[in-house]
Amino acid sequence: MLFDTFFLRDLKLKNRLVRSATYEKRADERGFVTDALIEFYEAIAWGGVGLIITGNVVVHPSGLSVERAMCIYDDVYVSGLRRLAYAIHRFDGKVIMQLVHGGRQCYPELLGDNPPIAPSEVYEPLLKVTPRAMTEQEIWEVIGAFGSAAKRAQAAGFDGVQIHGAHGYLISEFLSSHTNRRDDYWGGDEERRFHFLQEVVKAIRERVGTEYPVLIKMNSDDFLQSGGLHPQESLSIAKKLQELGIDAIEVSGGMYESDLRAARENILKPEDEAYFKETAVMFKKELTIPVILVGGIRSKAVAEGLLTGGCADLVSLSRALIREPDLPDKFRDGKEKADCISCNGCMRFKKLDMVRCVQIQD
Ligand SMILES: Cc1cc2nc3c(=O)[nH]c(=O)nc-3n(C[C@H](O)[C@H](O)[C@H](O)COP(=O)(O)O)c2cc1C
Repeated sequence: MLFDTFFLRDLKLKNRLVRSATYEKRADERGFVTDALIEFYEAIAWGGVGLIITGNVVVHPSGLSVERAMCIYDDVYVSGLRRLAYAIHRFDGKVIMQLVHGGRQCYPELLGDNPPIAPSEVYEPLLKVTPRAMTEQEIWEVIGAFGSAAKRAQAAGFDGVQIHGAHGYLISEFLSSHTNRRDDYWGGDEERRFHFLQEVVKAIRERVGTEYPVLIKMNSDDFLQSGGLHPQESLSIAKKLQELGIDAIEVSGGMYESDLRAARENILKPEDEAYFKETAVMFKKELTIPVILVGGIRSKAVAEGLLTGGCADLVSLSRALIREPDLPDKFRDGKEKADCISCNGCMRFKKLDMVRCVQIQD
């Protein structure tokens, strides 16, 4: 089943393996596509994965969370991005662009030493920064920026977009009762915390039309002692997103300050793999749109079992493809298990020149 074709709307995928969004640290200092970025993606496309989701691409200058991420907040970025989409298509790949605003998880030094913006002024302990609460005008500006970014991605030839609604970035912050302490249209209860995402989806749809694939990655759980998103609320959000016309949901979890994060270490046994499976199963029972499961998937048998067991429609991998971009082809040719040992060396990207597997010495 892993190597069966799959349709995301009209987009035909050659198999059910997805490259989950993974920041590359290969754009230039101003967020433009570079040759290194193109070569990096050519290797992934050549490696046989059914769908590539790009690393997060920044929709507004106030949302730059990491250095040398790709940007899309101006038309000047489109020609470089078009080169990237073309390169991936040339290797028979399909590519969806992940759109992000980093919210409170942005380093002030990347924002001209200004504090990051967020729904509310809730201290971020990892970056040791208190964000500034967004004004009504800023909220609408960022919503518009998501719409414009999606339109540019479409114009650049990408096969769809994925909204980054997970991991404690701006959208996830609006959804979470921990980071959203507002008492206005944008926060106060579950319904109002959803409004920001609702407006983002509407803005994107207005710009790209009804047929263009629009996906989302969202948290199943924020894994916070102080509350935040939990699986029942996340299911209720997922149902609303389905009604709004979202085409697929990728299930993840955690934020910077969470006890359990998106990329867990030491996934060495099959039982440790697919650690967001429970929520994916719940989503599969209640939704009709495709569910994509990410998180610790390392073996072919586990991936296959998730599909045949009805836990997910597509399975998604990040770290394993940093180590082996051609893992999908190797799985097809008989390999059983990824070489990635989930050490999270690749996550220490602040110190690295680019995101890469530090187990491989080159
Ligand atoms: C170096 C690195 C960069 C990442 N960048 C992103 C990103 O840009 N967007 C995103 O949604 N997730 C990002 N993630 C999280 C992964 O997409 C994925 O959800 C997580 O690593 C768990 O999957 P895995 O066990 O297959 O690695 C990143 C993970 C790593 C290791």
